[in-house]
Amino acid sequence: MSRTRRLYDWFDDRLDLGDAEDFLGKAFPAEDSFLLGEVALFSFVMLGLTGIFLAFFYEPSTAEMTYEGSVAKFQGEDLPAAFGSVLQLTYDVPFGMFIRRFHHWAAHLFVAAIGLHMLRVFFHGAYRNPREINWVVGTVLAILAMGAAYTGYALPFDEFASTATGIGYNIAGSIPILGDAIAAIVFGGDFPSSATIPRLYFLHVFFIPALIAVGLAAHMGLLVRQKHTEAQREEDVEPVDSSAAADGGVNHDTVDREDDSVVVGLPAVPNQAAVSAVVFFLTLATLSALAGFLPVHNIAEYGPNNPAGTPALIMPDWFFMWLYGFLKVLPSSLGFHIGPIEISAEFLGGVALPALVFLAVFAWPFIDRRRESVHFTADPFERPVQTGVGVAGVVFVMIASIAGMNNLLAEALGTTTGAVNLPLLAAMIVGPIAAFGIVHWAITREREPDESPAGSDDDTAQPVEVPDDE
Ligand code: HEM
Repeated sequence: MSRTRRLYDWFDDRLDLGDAEDFLGKAFPAEDSFLLGEVALFSFVMLGLTGIFLAFFYEPSTAEMTYEGSVAKFQGEDLPAAFGSVLQLTYDVPFGMFIRRFHHWAAHLFVAAIGLHMLRVFFHGAYRNPREINWVVGTVLAILAMGAAYTGYALPFDEFASTATGIGYNIAGSIPILGDAIAAIVFGGDFPSSATIPRLYFLHVFFIPALIAVGLAAHMGLLVRQKHTEAQREEDVEPVDSSAAADGGVNHDTVDREDDSVVVGLPAVPNQAAVSAVVFFLTLATLSALAGFLPVHNIAEYGPNNPAGTPALIMPDWFFMWLYGFLKVLPSSLGFHIGPIEISAEFLGGVALPALVFLAVFAWPFIDRRRESVHFTADPFERPVQTGVGVAGVVFVMIASIAGMNNLLAEALGTTTGAVNLPLLAAMIVGPIAAFGIVHWAITREREPDESPAGSDDDTAQPVEVPDDE
């Protein structure tokens, strides 16, 4: 008996590795778009690792410190410790600038990968029964990722970022009845005050990442429990050779093309693990290249937070731009009173409308619901309504993001922001409706009624029996 086998048996005696073998042989569909979730996962891992490095040098305090470092402009000046420590980290700590940039780009990639992953799941209809819960957990993760980015943006305490994050404080304060309490909990009182940075720091480095980690554990647990969805098969799948089956390959018998109770794909170990390793290193390489070549937010240029001043241009990160767009184009005259309670336009644009959008996202699997389980992915070109809704949603977010940059648009058109706001508001309503109409029309025109495969819209008529486990 080989030494490896004896070692395996030793662990097997104690841990009963039979279950683990089943797990390691679990099949992953060989679909490239399924790797977007992994990119998000690896970005999160890298955010954690680089964040630990940054935390060694960052000081979460607005108390004054005398700056001694390479930036001549601030040499010997008293600066808020948060700002001064990020300056030192960037210009005087070996690899500090690289790691800071890496962390920044990893945050952007994290959010971008989550957004694309979500679209992939949506257009494939992978949110349908039984995966509604994982869609809901995923949406919570997306909101948490945005929360992590928001709280991190404020930490260097420079004039630009702290002014931009101050908008969030005003929005929190606009919530009827609860506003002041929420602003106090999240921002530690007035913004900015000496309590703000420590509070946001705690949320950024501990509270939100811990929630994301718990959410991810649930997301992955559900994924393993429910299996992946898989593309509809062209034909029956013949058994793989006996060695693959012994390795934990899943397709021991011929798999019928209609049988969605079995996933035909790569075993988790070693095949999918090797693919994942490639995705990991590609993510690492992409972020290293971005960190090496693309600078991030230049805090030395903006200077420390100045309560008396406002920078000429205030911009949130791109993934908040659509929310900023709501704030910019909703006229303040929309505000009203219910008795003594004020419902301001700021509340409507900054809280109520985004809440409605996220509510619609949470509710979607229960609107497009299935009584029977569906394990094949849907073909977006077979689903005029769902694909139309998805494209309309993307168009809505894009127009709202342009609205968030209404000042740049007005400048480019040689006019005022007031003049572009109404057309932008109209486009936010008409654009998605038009997009839905065009997509719906294009798909139904192309579609032959008898061609819909199982797993598409029409599959409710012929539910597929799914065994409890496989
Ligand atoms: C921190 C953010 C997230 C991470 C790291 C993550 C990671 C993953 C991974 C690795 C998979 C398996 C591979 C794949 O199908 O891509 C997966 C599947 C899934 N995710 Fe996410 N995800 C995140 C956010 C989301 C969001 C925002 C949604 C939707 C709102 C979502 C919904 C789903 C669903 C329904 C599946 C099962 C898909 C299937 O079986 O085909 N996830 N996720």
